[in-house]
Amino acid sequence: MSKTIFDRESESIFQTYKRLHISADRAEGCRIFASDGGVYLDFLGGIAVNSLGHSHPAIIKAAKGQIDKYMHLSNFFYQEPQVRLAEKLKGISGYERVFFSNSGAESIEGAIKLARLWGRTHNKSEIIAFTGGFHGRTYGALSIMDKPLFKDGMGPFLPGTKVIKYNDADELNANVDENTSAIIMEFIQGEGGLAVADEKFIEAIIRLKEEYGFLLIADEIQSGAGRTGRFFAFGHFGIRPDVVTMAKGIGGGLPLGAILATDKVANLLEPGMHGTTYGGNAVACATGLAVLEELENGLMDHVNEVSAYLNGKLNEIKNDHSDKVLEVRGMGLMTGLLLSFDSTILRDELLKRKIITNAGAGNILRLLPPLIINNSDIDEFIDGLGESLAAI
Ligand SMILES: Cc1ncc(COP(=O)(O)O)c(C=O)c1O
Repeated sequence: MSKTIFDRESESIFQTYKRLHISADRAEGCRIFASDGGVYLDFLGGIAVNSLGHSHPAIIKAAKGQIDKYMHLSNFFYQEPQVRLAEKLKGISGYERVFFSNSGAESIEGAIKLARLWGRTHNKSEIIAFTGGFHGRTYGALSIMDKPLFKDGMGPFLPGTKVIKYNDADELNANVDENTSAIIMEFIQGEGGLAVADEKFIEAIIRLKEEYGFLLIADEIQSGAGRTGRFFAFGHFGIRPDVVTMAKGIGGGLPLGAILATDKVANLLEPGMHGTTYGGNAVACATGLAVLEELENGLMDHVNEVSAYLNGKLNEIKNDHSDKVLEVRGMGLMTGLLLSFDSTILRDELLKRKIITNAGAGNILRLLPPLIINNSDIDEFIDGLGESLAAI
């Protein structure tokens, strides 16, 4: 008998991922069709990547249209999709310059370089980040994270970095000073259990920034591109970071990242000081444009409508299962449940009912559905969730 894909994978690929036992065949909208005939409701969205769901006609049209012209030329060339996407991002965000990368971690690396250059020109050397943050798997990113699983045995990490307690204004006051070159943070922590920045913490950051003049870098890699109901999660907080890192949802399924910054900060990088072969790939930029156009043409309003509906239903579930569901967390379609038990148990119970979710850190069941999800998908999810909780 021929080997299954599960065996073949385990014999041929680095064993770094804990995969779901699903062999995907194709996907459409919010559904993933498995090779064994199973049809799954997708509340993971490729980990916040498939903002328009799967096989969205606008994404396919944009990708095919660009593939017919050219796929890759390199950054030696002026390329219309890249410049158009940059202009669109500028228009939506108000930032003045965009650097395109391929992934979240790569955007973070570029932002760390900006922090270092800012430090050099302002006589500052320390980058501060927060517990529970997730910024990627490269050395710069790991250096501003605290989770032992991701770091143990891999040091030494970047000097001049410090990870302090999230949402603790006293810790901020004790650690931020004239030597702080940058603070890097998620306004809602994705991997870190959907913790949302609190008011006192943000107030302290605003005050300290005024006093010491460090760069504020927002990691919007998971929370950006409309996921929380605003284009950026920081848009809920009345604060304006100097630098924003993006990836995931902005490409709509193709690898695309971006760093957004003011002129003053972006110009710290002079020609030749930073670059990437694939960053700003023409096909990825074309799909990125399709995502932004959908967001402008009603998708953002849709996110706010459906996320309010989902939130209401999740709160009903919490009331019905108050022994198991302790809290509904998150913002917009970056949401989830704090459970009184290991969230992998609920994730697996949902999987039996052909619903895909994510078991996050600290007993969190994390939900990152495609932004195009509708109320009937949500009803189906909530039915499965209620049944799963009752079965546990
Ligand atoms: C907030 C945040 N930053 C950075 C990253 C790293 O992105 P990538 O996996 O594309 O390198 C992630 C990925 O989950 C993320 O959620």
